[in-house]
Amino acid sequence: ALTVDTKAKGTKVSPNLYGVFYEDINHAADGGLYAELVQNRSFEFNDQDNASYTGLTAWSKTERGASATLAVTGDQPLNANNRNYLRLDVTGDGTAGVSNAGFNRGLALKRGARYDLSFWARRTEAGTLTVTVEDGTAVLGTAALQVKAGGWAKYEAWFTAAATTDAGRLIVQAPSGRTDLDMVSLFPHDTFKGHGMRADLAKAIAELKPGFLRFPGGCVTNVGTYDPYSDKQDRRRIYQWKETIGPVEERPTNFNFWGYNQSYGIGYYEYFQFAEDIGAEPLPVLSVGVNGCNVNQPLTDEAKLARWVQDTLDLIEFANGPATSEWGAKRAALGHPKPFGLDYIGLGNEEIYPEFFTNYPKFADTIRAKYPTIKIISNSGQAPQGAWFDKMWQFARDQKADLVDEHYYSSPGWFLTNNHRYDSYDRSGPKVFAGEYASQGNTFGNALAEASYMTGLERNSDVVELASYAPLLANVDYVNWFPDLIWYDNDQVFGSANYYVQKLFSTNLGDRIQPSTFESATKPPADITGGIGLGSWSTQVRYDDVKVTAADGTTLFSDDFSGGGEKWTPGQGAWAVRDGAYVQTADVTDARSTAGSPDWSNYTMEVKARKTGGAEG
Ligand code: AHR
Repeated sequence: ALTVDTKAKGTKVSPNLYGVFYEDINHAADGGLYAELVQNRSFEFNDQDNASYTGLTAWSKTERGASATLAVTGDQPLNANNRNYLRLDVTGDGTAGVSNAGFNRGLALKRGARYDLSFWARRTEAGTLTVTVEDGTAVLGTAALQVKAGGWAKYEAWFTAAATTDAGRLIVQAPSGRTDLDMVSLFPHDTFKGHGMRADLAKAIAELKPGFLRFPGGCVTNVGTYDPYSDKQDRRRIYQWKETIGPVEERPTNFNFWGYNQSYGIGYYEYFQFAEDIGAEPLPVLSVGVNGCNVNQPLTDEAKLARWVQDTLDLIEFANGPATSEWGAKRAALGHPKPFGLDYIGLGNEEIYPEFFTNYPKFADTIRAKYPTIKIISNSGQAPQGAWFDKMWQFARDQKADLVDEHYYSSPGWFLTNNHRYDSYDRSGPKVFAGEYASQGNTFGNALAEASYMTGLERNSDVVELASYAPLLANVDYVNWFPDLIWYDNDQVFGSANYYVQKLFSTNLGDRIQPSTFESATKPPADITGGIGLGSWSTQVRYDDVKVTAADGTTLFSDDFSGGGEKWTPGQGAWAVRDGAYVQTADVTDARSTAGSPDWSNYTMEVKARKTGGAEG
């Protein structure tokens, strides 16, 4: 029987409760939300970043009468941030050049739609370059551009696609002579609200009516070196927002945590714009100079740290400052004189290292002094993390953080048994930002467990202010992480069962929660606490087999994960599996421990796992 107290005042529901966590993982940006159709458009892919890359990744030679020699080189580049380009030497009659395979199967074009083509070129003598999009023998679009002799210049054209394909090739042909080519781009003319995002994907996100957009990650924000791009520094750099604004040809690419090259075609300006376009609060997350995600390369150099703190202040000015301020003027010059209205900032993503305690106050205190109304979000790593989790929370309380970011990737059982997780959370300290959660699968059962859990988030939304499923996007051909909310290939988008649960909740958000009780003959299982450590792993781990056995030989839990696919989780130091995180101890129904915690020292856990490089998809 369900009893609702309609007289009580009820709990006010946080208006931004359900949002989205966007991370550039699973090719969420290039080959995803960023509508660019050409892969490796600026020839910056590099085998020092990823052994499978070359400057010609996704490109191949095409010879139509003439012969071509291709070289990726850096002699007098387009600019200092865009070091490499293609040098195409053509000899003989006819033409020769290159073909780009796009992402996945090829470039996706729709009949009747307009496509905008551009490239930068330099030729020793004037000549006509022909660009076509072809699917087998069919030509879907074509443009001929007169390239003058002399230095670098930008050339643009457009065409209407004559047919639909998801396997097109962009082919650039040159006459004899030397042509240098860079930033070869083909873009659908119609993007989401005209701001460069792939329309169908952006629409799927917008239809969630998210209260906030957390970006740009995750581990993608806070692993790498802290030095800016320069000719001496091109190893994986930490996500530095200033590298991601301005003309795209001046944004250096990066090698991201998830093992692929990141063009920054979507940069901070585009994220703010996208948040505005979907009616969401922008919520950027920045490192505080402590790498997260099982990489601890703390930034202790005071001068570099001071620059980093200043960059964070500048970001707030970029978002909120008047058009007359230094960074507000840059925003205005990019086309948005009105401030974006930034209210939240995340400091750190899973930065569970001692240096966090030293570095965080340098950022938080400076922000508080200059921007007292901005809500600062501290972090707590992946819950439950035992001692670290508690330590991080205590620190956030001491620092008077406004919110604490909690992450959990657990079994459906964990989500069911943790419906009451927040009932007893302290109401006087920081609020909760459940910034990343998922029940390790995209089945209906997973979605249902999450739905049950979300009733607990909503019931407690006086303390849970924000919550987002993670990760948001996955290109079916470049999967770094499973499960994900929205899946897509070049021309199709699929919402998972979990997506429809998120949508159901976020598009039906009430104002208040009235107290209610439900009596049923079926009781939910008792919470399980306690834990068995999995040891430390330095990279990602794929579980092939997990077995938990009691001292008397009874198997409490066993799964080869063949049914639901392998389980994935990123590397973290010494996982505790208390409360069922990761290895699904919540699924370990131990009938002998109905009261209190099982004594986990009586159990053994066998794990068959494979370490995989961070890059593996
Ligand atoms: O959501 C995938 C990853 O999980 C995020 O990058 C990171 O924050 C967490 O470990």
